[in-house]
Amino acid sequence: MKRALITGVTGQDGAYLAQFLLTKGYEVHGLMRRSSAAEVVDAKLRWLNIHNDIREVDGNLIDLSSLIRIIREVKPDEVYNLGAQSFVKASWNQPLLTGQVTGLGAANVLEAIRLERPEARFYQASSSEMYGLIQEEMQSEKTPFYPRSPYAVAKLYAHWMTVNYRESYGMHASSGILFNHESPLRGIEFVTRKVTDGVARIKLGLSKELRLGNIDAKRDWGHSREYVQAMWLMLQQDKPDDYVIATGRTTTVRDMCRIAFSYVGLDMDAHLKIDSALFRPAEVDVLFGNPAKAKEKLGWTAKITLEEMIHEMVDADLARLRNART
Ligand SMILES: NC(=O)c1ccc[n+]([C@@H]2O[C@H](COP(=O)([O-])OP(=O)(O)OC[C@H]3O[C@@H](n4cnc5c(N)ncnc54)[C@H](OP(=O)(O)O)[C@@H]3O)[C@@H](O)[C@H]2O)c1
Repeated sequence: MKRALITGVTGQDGAYLAQFLLTKGYEVHGLMRRSSAAEVVDAKLRWLNIHNDIREVDGNLIDLSSLIRIIREVKPDEVYNLGAQSFVKASWNQPLLTGQVTGLGAANVLEAIRLERPEARFYQASSSEMYGLIQEEMQSEKTPFYPRSPYAVAKLYAHWMTVNYRESYGMHASSGILFNHESPLRGIEFVTRKVTDGVARIKLGLSKELRLGNIDAKRDWGHSREYVQAMWLMLQQDKPDDYVIATGRTTTVRDMCRIAFSYVGLDMDAHLKIDSALFRPAEVDVLFGNPAKAKEKLGWTAKITLEEMIHEMVDADLARLRNART
């Protein structure tokens, strides 16, 4: 039986990846950091009803000694580093913490593997935010990076450390440059979930308006459930490499919102308010990924449409809010 270690197992992708690996017969170990609210930290794993199937290991990405101990004890075949301070807007408020967790945290995992289990295969959760001020209309593995937030700068460090450990030590270390991907398990502060939760609240009469920042920004949105499969595929290849994972379709936040409002029969213009306080200090205007390499080498393509995903998310938020009322 193969053993996988997932950092960030309590997050959106961690939960879906754990579910996927369990169906593949893996023994799944999930790194969890200590929380004073331990009873809610595994909410996403509970949503998928897999919380009893994960072997919890106690550690933190900024504590190298904890990672060394965990790798020594678990002896994983595959390590997926999904843990991060992952919210771009918060990275301006906590730039150094973001650097420590999102940047150095990845280097800590790589070091722990190099010292204790160099044969383990490693996946790094890189991000399309690394393209930032885009240098090409459609971004591929060859497009130069231009990060535009402390988050993206930290991710770029982690990305290059992954490449460097592959080239320096021959480690099977791969990096997935994932474009935005969402689901009913997306954190509530991220724009798609903010929209689907907001629309559900307005529909149920719990709220009257939805406040957003820059709705002209364009993003390439896919579904987390499909994107985690690409992570696994990367680690099944003979050779480690870097891959863009995207849908190849880009849509404005405005049009994504319209999909959600019209799904429940509401007039978006009557409820949507723009709040300049919610704009980023430096914006990423457009992200538009070219997934051709992933299709050719991994046989992976995105299948779930933006409309299908937003409908699923609105339905999930309606159900959550109705349950909370009963
Ligand atoms: N979703 C996207 O569109 C997207 C796109 C590209 C890249 N990524 C990257 O992909 C990864 C997964 O994304 P996601 O959407 O699943 O993120 P997420 O829901 O925000 O999950 C982040 C995870 O990191 C954990 N974490 C935070 N600080 C930690 C620390 N110091 N030590 C250990 N764990 C820590 C969190 O644990 P707690 O539950 O305890 O907070 C949580 O499990 C992240 O690295 C993200 O930056 C995401």
